[in-house]
Amino acid sequence: MKNLREKENLSFRFGADYYPEHWPRERWATDAKMMAELRFNTVRLAEFAWSRIEPAEGEFNFDWLDDALETLAKHGVKAILGTPTAAPPPWLIRAHPDVLQVDGEGRRKAEGTRKNYCAVNPNYIEHSKKIVEKLVLHYKDNPNVIGWQIDNEFDVNLCYCENSIIAFRDWLRKKYGSLDRLNSECGLIFWGQEYGSWEEILPPRPPFDMQNPALCLEWHRFSSDAWVNYQRLQVEIIRKHAPHHFITHNFMGLYKELDYFKLAKDLDFVSFDYYPRWSSKVDYAASAMAHDLMRSLKKKPYLIMELQSGAVKTHLAPVPKPGEIRLWTVQSVARGANGVLYFRWRSCRFGAEEYWHGILDHDGIPRRRFSEVKRVSEELFKITPELEDTFFESNTGIILVYDNLWAWDLETGYGGKNYYGMGAWEPVLNVYRVLYKRNIPVDFVDPSSEDLGKYRVLFAPSLMLLNDRIGDALRSYVKRGGVLIATPRTGSKDWNNNIVDKPLPGELSDVLGVRVEEYTGLPEGETYEALFLEGKVFFRARNWAEKLEVEDAEVMAEYSSGMYAGKPVATMKHLGRGVAIYVGTFATAEFYDELINRLLRMGVVEEVFPSQEGVEAVRRSGGGKEVLFLLNHGEEVSELSLGTRVFRDLVSGDRLSGSLKIAGLDFRVVTPS
Ligand code: GLA
Repeated sequence: MKNLREKENLSFRFGADYYPEHWPRERWATDAKMMAELRFNTVRLAEFAWSRIEPAEGEFNFDWLDDALETLAKHGVKAILGTPTAAPPPWLIRAHPDVLQVDGEGRRKAEGTRKNYCAVNPNYIEHSKKIVEKLVLHYKDNPNVIGWQIDNEFDVNLCYCENSIIAFRDWLRKKYGSLDRLNSECGLIFWGQEYGSWEEILPPRPPFDMQNPALCLEWHRFSSDAWVNYQRLQVEIIRKHAPHHFITHNFMGLYKELDYFKLAKDLDFVSFDYYPRWSSKVDYAASAMAHDLMRSLKKKPYLIMELQSGAVKTHLAPVPKPGEIRLWTVQSVARGANGVLYFRWRSCRFGAEEYWHGILDHDGIPRRRFSEVKRVSEELFKITPELEDTFFESNTGIILVYDNLWAWDLETGYGGKNYYGMGAWEPVLNVYRVLYKRNIPVDFVDPSSEDLGKYRVLFAPSLMLLNDRIGDALRSYVKRGGVLIATPRTGSKDWNNNIVDKPLPGELSDVLGVRVEEYTGLPEGETYEALFLEGKVFFRARNWAEKLEVEDAEVMAEYSSGMYAGKPVATMKHLGRGVAIYVGTFATAEFYDELINRLLRMGVVEEVFPSQEGVEAVRRSGGGKEVLFLLNHGEEVSELSLGTRVFRDLVSGDRLSGSLKIAGLDFRVVTPS
């Protein structure tokens, strides 16, 4: 049984998200036939079909789903079933209106839609368990079902209903044991908010900048845990009855409100819903970062459960340009995906998503996007067999701690809100954009549970929140020979989100060998000039500047203008067999470019292909093989030099040497020959 699960995990899945319940039965066979034309082997079904499966409490109807599965199977298409809990049916809400979330102002969420229920509501939990169990028992032996997606795109909508409040109190009681501890560790004496009984505790309500930051972080932690637990309830039922089926969930890339490392733990693999084009510009670095994060959650192949195949629903959103669906498909495979399902098979004629377009338009006639999927399907048919035993390999890591992201977003003064753009992701993106441009493969790393020793270089962007465990892991990482790069606010807060009572960078002062003597915010538009001492490479300090005093480190770079001119801005310390670098500002890209030049000279990072504007180069390797993906996201032809190497194009079979031209919005997948 277990073997089948492993096997299905490994084979390449290709297909779409399909909603047979939206179309007349007579159409299903046509759809299945058209899917076969695209070589589809997988669909995802039923994640919003609770009302069709259980039209009234305790009354179940699987016939339509059985028939749909059978029709698809005739054309070689198997299914991942979604547990339908993402959209509660009207009868359930009528019987238990309390299942609806309550917002910070005390208003219940609307019915008639999805994702409006509370994860700790006992009624919702009971009904969820029942429907999941019914479904699993019905489909566990159906050979056309291969696995499960739990619910759909969990997100943390902080819920203030009575059940959430009670559960939050229990969560705090379990964690702190006594009110004295809670009061003192969260600093509740500030503005005289110490609790005298557990019943007095209420979750912090917006605006959060007027609330206690420690309690706000606990409220967020609790809310994230609530969804992890809700997912686990469903996972346990499926594991019990269908241990041979895989279980996944569709994650949302850079969505940061849920601890994705924790959410991924109970699953066989991670799935990712990838929608790159929301407007006229695609942020390719952020898109690649989302893939790297999805792969990193379990350090294994992931599945694209939904890939944009038409225009999204936002106002005047553009349709993917010709070539983009192919590019995004191949980019996903390059970065470690082991399958791609497109959202959605056919654009729906009704409902809130009538303008979320799929492969087919509303009329069901195959047009340009269908042909593009067909073309990439044929290309994948040639590429994927050559990928066996290969994976995206990296020896550079970026430390990621979700609690730290939440704490950053709660910062209202000097810290987080000095950012523009993507909030708490900004310190990470600041580094990632340069690594991306230089084609340096990166993993995201959870320092609480992973072996850091696998990485030659670890960036720890603004790890404000530290505990002993993470501090010790980073210290011994450096001592054993790693290169650590830390950036502003490192170690400035304890695990409870209180500011530490020691000089910064707090817990890591001994490792980094510097002391932050003073700091200042730099309002938007104001920057300080700075220089690497060796080579005089110029960059700018922005958002935030720290005046550093060196204790036992070397100065790498100094401010050359502004209040801290002549003072160090970046330092380097040799510790044990490793190196610890500290950067006291959010440096512009020139800083990281130069830092990478130095890391290249040290032989600790590697560019998989020379950097070229607009071209994303990704490598998969393993089993003695190397496959290079060269993706031209620009609309103009790009000409790349292959140096002295000779390659074979996996799609055309051509032998390539000298220089290689890639058309705009096109790709090449090559292997050394
Ligand atoms: C998400 C959801 C889908 C659908 C799409 C729209 O990713 O998972 O149910 O709403 O967005 O593109």
